[in-house]
Amino acid sequence: MADLDGVKESKNFYTDIPQKTEGFFLKGSNSLDWGMKNRLARIFNPDSGHTVMLAIDHGYFQGPTTGLERIDVNILPLVPYADTLMLTRGILRSIVPPSVTKPIVLRVSGGSSILKELSNEEIAVDIEDSLRLNVCAMAVQVFIGGEYEKQSIMNMTRLIDMGIRYGIPTLAVTAVGKDMARDARYFRLATRLCAELGAQYIKSYYIEEGFETITSCCPVPIVIAGGKKIPELDALTMAYNAIQQGAGGVDMGRNIFQAESPAAMIQAVRTVVHENEKPDKAFDLYNTLKNQ
Ligand code: R5P
Repeated sequence: MADLDGVKESKNFYTDIPQKTEGFFLKGSNSLDWGMKNRLARIFNPDSGHTVMLAIDHGYFQGPTTGLERIDVNILPLVPYADTLMLTRGILRSIVPPSVTKPIVLRVSGGSSILKELSNEEIAVDIEDSLRLNVCAMAVQVFIGGEYEKQSIMNMTRLIDMGIRYGIPTLAVTAVGKDMARDARYFRLATRLCAELGAQYIKSYYIEEGFETITSCCPVPIVIAGGKKIPELDALTMAYNAIQQGAGGVDMGRNIFQAESPAAMIQAVRTVVHENEKPDKAFDLYNTLKNQ
């Protein structure tokens, strides 16, 4: 039982110090609930406001992608350098040790493969499984202009509703069909639509012309996918330009795990994303680390 005698009486109520009411650092996220903000603050670094997500979910529709044949061998050594891992529950449970404390962004849409129409997806993971796996966000593909556009949008909105119920953010991944123009007009439409319907953050692609108009009129953070493998300096330049033009970070896969030295590449990408390092300096770092 707690002592009743000799209790220290003097209390300090700090009546001269007003309680702080802090805003939330992330674009468009101030009105979210505590749990959702806390998860986003694990994905996005509150100091830089940015994130380096390592995307390794490609197998969910295209099988063992080059560089991802053995995730235990090739990818686990990169985990310390990533802010977040984006992957499927199959790889998470079978290969990633639960002692890894990096925030997980779980791929939860699926149902199509490269052999068929890719936009024909559904939500493929129960919200309860996302909770069991302690994920920080759920990722769903949205095919604006695609054959199953409406279905994919409704997948997203259902996921957003479930996520709001439990405090888990939804990452809307804008997928572009092969024949569609990858221009600013398209990405403004796709990203804004996802934001208007409630996605807490959005994955899109960097484009040379007008990328800043996409980030400017999207009210929530945009992270860029890396896309197909390009030379390392070009990938660092793309990441640099995206950050300078308002991106909240990268969700990069092939340009990291297919690099000649993936560990060197992800560290170089980090300096661009978190420290505004110039691409040529980041490339120097890449070469130095690669040769060590
Ligand atoms: C592909 O569908 C996945 O969503 C990837 O996570 C995404 O494309 C990012 O990977 P990459 O940088 O290789 O394009």
